[in-house]
Amino acid sequence: MSFYIAGTGSALPEKIVSNEDLATFLDTSDEWIFTRTGIRRRRVLTGETLNDLAILSARRALEDARVAGNEVDLILCATMRGDTVTPSLACSVAEAIGSHAPAFDLNAACVGVLYAMEVADSFFAAGKAETALIVSAEAMSKLLNWEDRSTCVLFGDGSGALVLKKGAGRLAGVLSTDPDSHVIRMPNIEGMNSPYNQNGQQPLAMHMDGGEVYKFAVNAMGRNIEQVCRLAGIAPAEVDWYLPHQANIRIIDASLRKFKIGKEKVLVNISEYGNMSATSISVLLDEYARRGTFKEGDKLLFVAFGAGLTSGAVLLEWKKQG
Ligand code: ACO
Repeated sequence: MSFYIAGTGSALPEKIVSNEDLATFLDTSDEWIFTRTGIRRRRVLTGETLNDLAILSARRALEDARVAGNEVDLILCATMRGDTVTPSLACSVAEAIGSHAPAFDLNAACVGVLYAMEVADSFFAAGKAETALIVSAEAMSKLLNWEDRSTCVLFGDGSGALVLKKGAGRLAGVLSTDPDSHVIRMPNIEGMNSPYNQNGQQPLAMHMDGGEVYKFAVNAMGRNIEQVCRLAGIAPAEVDWYLPHQANIRIIDASLRKFKIGKEKVLVNISEYGNMSATSISVLLDEYARRGTFKEGDKLLFVAFGAGLTSGAVLLEWKKQG
């Protein structure tokens, strides 16, 4: 017994920023961004808070699963940074949906939802939960240097949510870390007000060596697909749907090329949202689930890489209602 996905939801900021919009204040173009990444536009927080989005996506997933807030036994939020250091985003969601379940945030960058699924799996296996709510929410726009064209064009804001229920569904999962604190780095705001701080203040903005991340990503995605399929005892060709992290369409194509998988099996929405870090996979899942793409028993493979450097894959059978 493990878990299946009983419901999904998502919530995105209203503001749409196109590549052309960025070109009004950056030395860039729609042609450069689209051909290098597959991104046309992204959503950016303006008046909304990340809490607002996280709560809305959680409510939509609960409604989809027909689960009440007080029936949830575990709340996990995958985020690199919520609106407040404390309470955690997960506690804010718990308050809004009327839950007293254990609630905590988890930071595994873009792989956050897969890490959260595997943590939930351990709760299910230990008999500590029957129903889990996973919420991913990222305010990437607040973490970027908007004068750095090599990074700020790549990301977007948003939130997605999944309700997991104990039962047959998950076939296998793998997680790993290839620790590297240089290729993607985002300093913290620590020490700002301390009179004892001797380290000065670092700018809160992302530094990324895009080429190194690209190489890691292609290698890690391929490795995780092979590992998770081996654990489940199936061939990559037997997977019905691939849901890869949406960082760059060229990374997705290059990682999957060697498996000779038909393009129609590889789900993408990067053109609309850019890289939403932990949120990419949950929004992708919600969009395709609501379109009725998945049939009972279909095998879905989620695969992601992220800052840390983290990576992972989860393979499961689609069975929406128990
Ligand atoms: N517009 C126009 N030109 C640009 C832009 C831009 N937005 N950004 C960079 N350039 C220029 C560069 O300055 C460089 O110019 P130069 O040749 O005169 O020096 C040129 O374009 C080529 O740049 P490259 O870095 O070689 O471009 P590349 O084809 O490697 O694509 C990219 C860059 C898109 C960043 C790619 O390396 C990539 O996708 N890497 C992975 C990024 C990623 O997945 N990050 C996710 C991290 S997960 C997380 O952070 C949570």
